[in-house]
Amino acid sequence: AGASAVVIFNQGNTPDREGLIIGTLAPDTVNIPVVGASFADGSALSQPGSTARVRVLPSEQRTNVNVIAEMPGDNTDNVVMAGAHLDSVVQGPGINDNGSGSAALLETALQMAKVKPVNTVRFAWWGDEEGGLVGSTAYVDGLSQAERDRIALYMNYDMIGSPNYILMTYDADESTFTAPVTVPPGSEAIEKLYEGFYTSRNVPYDDTAFNGRSDYQAFIEAGIPSGGLFTGAEGIKTVAQAGIWGGTAGAQYDPCYHLACDTFANNADAALDVNSDLVAYAMLTYAFSTESVNG
Ligand code: PHE
Ligand code: ZN
Ligand code: ZN
Ligand code: ZN
Repeated sequence: AGASAVVIFNQGNTPDREGLIIGTLAPDTVNIPVVGASFADGSALSQPGSTARVRVLPSEQRTNVNVIAEMPGDNTDNVVMAGAHLDSVVQGPGINDNGSGSAALLETALQMAKVKPVNTVRFAWWGDEEGGLVGSTAYVDGLSQAERDRIALYMNYDMIGSPNYILMTYDADESTFTAPVTVPPGSEAIEKLYEGFYTSRNVPYDDTAFNGRSDYQAFIEAGIPSGGLFTGAEGIKTVAQAGIWGGTAGAQYDPCYHLACDTFANNADAALDVNSDLVAYAMLTYAFSTESVNG
């Protein structure tokens, strides 16, 4: 399912153009009825009921990589980790999902280079989150128990600048994990740090469930205290939320979620601004002490 096809031409008076049709197609040149297709410029390929001739590219295997950057602190046995997925879905460029988290993390890493931390800081830009948390899972699975034990905590940043945002922290008290997997002790302390920062900036915040929809999953399963930020994806903003954060009630937090329109225009600067500061604040805080999390 989900083979993509490059359109080579279509019937009628629409000029030849290239775009993506998402659907299940045989790997051959075929005539298919057009039920609708979208292009980066937003224009429709053709009217429903017309016929397009498409060339279906053969499926291919691609290698994805994680990018890991570490700065040793005085204590190399206490590692503070933060991660953001670097890939996007094939349908779009993935600027909010997840250029937002990746960029905030990159700027934090660049600024952290000016600091000599007590703890060791490690940044991860995950490959292939969208394929099913592939990069982060492979990473954690590949660690020895001794290496896992050195990781004090993990912070995850996936979609932190949604255009119709609300500000949320992963809720340590609400998870959908099934026993024996639970949110590790210490995770509440990370959530509290985030909440305290929002309070200090006078901005409202809410919770979102730990439900395994992003790269923290493998860390939680390994018993590593985790937290993270989120500004909403396909969910619909309520009237009450629009009253608190502004924006448009009845519309998705990210109307371009997993679509071609997730471009540079698809960000709320206000959300990205406060969250970028928080990404840096949390890393800097834990670079000097993780006592509030690990005791
Ligand atoms: N991981 C989801 C994606 O990349 C987004 C998401 C993050 C959803 C956090 C819920 C909670 O599409
Ligand atoms: Zn996504
Ligand atoms: Zn994502
Ligand atoms: Zn909470």
